[in-house]
Formats: sequence, structure tokens, C-alpha cells
Amino acid sequence: MKFTTYTTFPEQTSNESLWVLVDSEQLQSNINTYQINNLESVLTATQFKGNFNETLPLFGQVSNQPHSQLLGLGKTAELQAVKLAKLAQTIIKSTQNKFKHIAIDIAALPVEYHYLFALSLTQAAYGYDEFKSKKNEFVLQQVDLISSTTSLDEKQLALVHAVQSGQSYARDLGNRPGNICFPEYLAEQALALAAEFPDLLKVTVLNEQQMADLGMYAFLAVSKGSERPGRIVTLEYQAGIDQAPVVLVGKGVTFDTGGISLKPGLGMDEMKFDMCGAASVLGTIRALCEAKLPIHVVGAIAAAENMPSGKATRPGDIVTTMSGQTVEILNTDAEGRLVLCDTLTYIKRFNPAVVVDIATLTGACVVALGKVLSGLFSPDDALADELQQAGEQSFDRVWRMPVIEDYQELLDSPFADIANIGGPYGGAITAACFLERFTREYRWAHLDVAGTAWLSGPAKGATGRPVPLLMQFLANRVNTNG
Ligand code: BES
Ligand code: MN
Ligand code: ZN
Repeated sequence: MKFTTYTTFPEQTSNESLWVLVDSEQLQSNINTYQINNLESVLTATQFKGNFNETLPLFGQVSNQPHSQLLGLGKTAELQAVKLAKLAQTIIKSTQNKFKHIAIDIAALPVEYHYLFALSLTQAAYGYDEFKSKKNEFVLQQVDLISSTTSLDEKQLALVHAVQSGQSYARDLGNRPGNICFPEYLAEQALALAAEFPDLLKVTVLNEQQMADLGMYAFLAVSKGSERPGRIVTLEYQAGIDQAPVVLVGKGVTFDTGGISLKPGLGMDEMKFDMCGAASVLGTIRALCEAKLPIHVVGAIAAAENMPSGKATRPGDIVTTMSGQTVEILNTDAEGRLVLCDTLTYIKRFNPAVVVDIATLTGACVVALGKVLSGLFSPDDALADELQQAGEQSFDRVWRMPVIEDYQELLDSPFADIANIGGPYGGAITAACFLERFTREYRWAHLDVAGTAWLSGPAKGATGRPVPLLMQFLANRVNTNG
């Protein structure tokens, strides 16, 4: 979907449907440029007030525009980002499968919402029909946004297009099933991305022999049970900028059965989404390449499949991590922290300015925050504030949770330096505390996206979060450091 901005209604474009956003308190002035036939009597007859998400079709009442309608914003002072998503869904729902090109008059929408509204439209328009025999043929391709004033300059529009592309890519990867999307597949995706942007990206792929040589026995304890070998992939986006990189580390468990600590069967299909952290890293790197932001970023993905088998790790097994710390694996279903800890040690070689890991790490985080907010954990207040603010700006929000010393003793093991689980309480926090032990040599934050990376039920599918947050975070860094 591509956006073009216009200051007045573009008579010359071939848009097939016009939407006019209206403020319930300024209804008349919002629509008087469109010279609607019998406006007074239409408003009286329909009792249309321009309340939030209220629509009024205007059949043949706007000249040269057979399909047009008003869409109420309610009182603009009461608007919130969450409402923009609802409005975007209303437009997309009645547009999809009908039109490829629409126009939306956004003059009534306060300019500070223009960016998020455009982003919301791209998110609502996403569909996934890769494995459906019958494809959606009418995909919305062009949106003309009309407003005499807008914050959507060329730079902002480029960011919208880049986030859209990266987020959709992350959603596609997340939605692909485990028989298609396995560790080597993720490595191939990274290589394909580098082939697409050869001047911007450098990719390396570690195989299991190389990991063994580096002493990554926590990672290998996870992939051992699988026929599919694990991979650690790094993607370096340098854009000619000489600065210490932001390193993004993604959990890429392409399917999580739990291993010998097998998960119950109900809903286990959703564990194909356990690589959504890695998908968000690939999506963010794609978005960076498209927006060509002047920044140094390294993406790293820890790709493994967690399976039970005769070769699988047993509860109670003890392994040595690349950092030298030993881990007693009391539960093989707490595998995310095992693949991440070695990857977090490995990426020290990039001398990171900051490291952010993104992981569908704990069911406990879903219990705590539901599917609205991602969990943010960081001992670094300034970094936490940056991420929190980027989340608000991109409407991809987070809630800060503690990672403090007091919880560390829950990870004590009688046999090794650390256990990989911390008992029944505070599960999202003890998981973060586990990672914290491997991140003491750099500035670090952890995003637990177990609740936000995908939706269940009728709308089941990957959300592509937190690509919008990560891109906003990086774009903000370009603006303050550049
Ligand atoms: N991938 C899961 C976390 C998860 C569970 C995400 C449900 C979304 C929905 C992770 O590997 C896991 O299994 N975590 C365990 C940890 C426990 C064994 C300490 C969990 O949350 O139950
Ligand atoms: Mn697990
Ligand atoms: Zn998992």
C-alpha cells in the first residue's frame, strides 16, 4: 500500500472511493469543500452526528465521486491512538475486496495523529493467504491522503512505508508454519535480505559445529533434540556510519514443543510463533534498509527448534554456557533463555552501544500484561525511557517491569551456577533475571513480547510487533545523535 499526500481533493487521480473524516463538533466546515447535494436533509434524515466510528454513505451526492462516505472522529479532543486503529479497520473492512485505490480526507484529524493513522491503515490492510488456494485479488494499493496541512512530509512517509514493509515481512515469517520456517530457513531469509541490499547488509551464519567450538552449550542443549540444526545469524547494517552499534537480539525458536518437559497439546500450534522475536529483528533490518537510516545496527537471531527425542536434553542436565557460567536445565520448556544467553555473550564482539533482546519468552508475561503491552525489563533507566517513549510514539507500547537483584536468588541451583527456572512466581521477572546475568558488560534491555507478537482466536496471526517500536527507537536515535 502506497500513500500520496494532496493538499486538496485530487480530481485527476483514479481513486475509486472517498472517505471524509469529520469532527463531530465541526461537521459542516469539514465537509463543505465537497458540495454535497441536499446535505441538510441528509443529515436530518440520517441523524448522522459524526460520532466516533459512525459512517454515513453518500450515494451519488458528491460530484464525480460515486462511492463516498463520511467517517466520524467524535470530538477530536477525545481522540486517542487506539481509536485510530479502529477507524483504520472500519475503512479497510469496507474497502477490501472492492477497491485498489481510495482517497481519505484527513483534514479534520489533528496533525499529530497523521503518522499513526497512516501506519494503522497499513496494519489493518495486512492479510496472509500464502497457503489459501483462493487469493484475495483486490488488495488496496494506493491511498491518497488529503489535508491542507499534514505532518506527513517525505521523510515521515518514507518511514511509514519502511515500517509497513518490515512489519508485514515479520508477520509473514511469524505466520509461516514450523515445517516451512525452521532455523535454516531463517538463515536463508537473512541471506536473501543481504542479496536484496548488498551495499547495506553483511550476514554471517554460525552452524552447530562453530557454536560447539565457541562453547555455546546452552544453545546446543535446545537444538539437540531436533532433526533441524540450529543457527545463529547476524545481520550487520552499517550504512557507512562509524559508531558503536545498536544490537537487536531475537529469539527464533521456530517451534517450541517444550522438549522433554512437553507442553500440553491444546493450542500447541501457536508455538510456531515462538520465533516472532527473530522475525521482528529481520523485519526491523528490512525496514532500515528501505528507509536507509544513517545508523549502525546489528541484528542477531538465535534460531533453534525445541523438540523431544532420544537425543534431547533431560531435566536436570547441566551445561556450560559460552560465558563460562554453568546452568542446570530443570525445565526444557524454558528454552528461550538458553538460546538467548549464548547469543547475548556472542554479540559482545560487536562492541555494542546498547543491546535490546526481543523474545516470546514467558507465559507469565501474558498473564501479567495480556495482549496489549509488551514487558520491558532493563536495569538502565535511560534506555528504558527511550524504549518506552518509542512505544508511545509508534503505538506499540510497553510496560516496565523490574529486573532487580532481589529476584536473583530464585534462580539458585544446588548443582550449578544457575537454574534455568525460578519457581512458580514472577516468571517473567526471573526469566529477565536469567538473561541479566549474561548482559553485565553492556547497556541492555529485554522486551518480552509473548503476549503481543501474535493474536489468538478468530484473528489468529502474527502482529509484527515490536517492529514499529524498534524502528521508532532507531529513528529517534538518528535524530538525537546525528
Ligand atoms: N515460548 C514459551 C513462552 C510462551 C508461552 C509464549 C505461552 C507465549 C505463550 C517459552 O519457551 C516457555 O515455554 N516458557 C515457559 C517457562 C517456564 C517453563 C518457566 C512458560 O512460560 O511456561
Ligand atoms: Mn518453551
Ligand atoms: Zn519458547
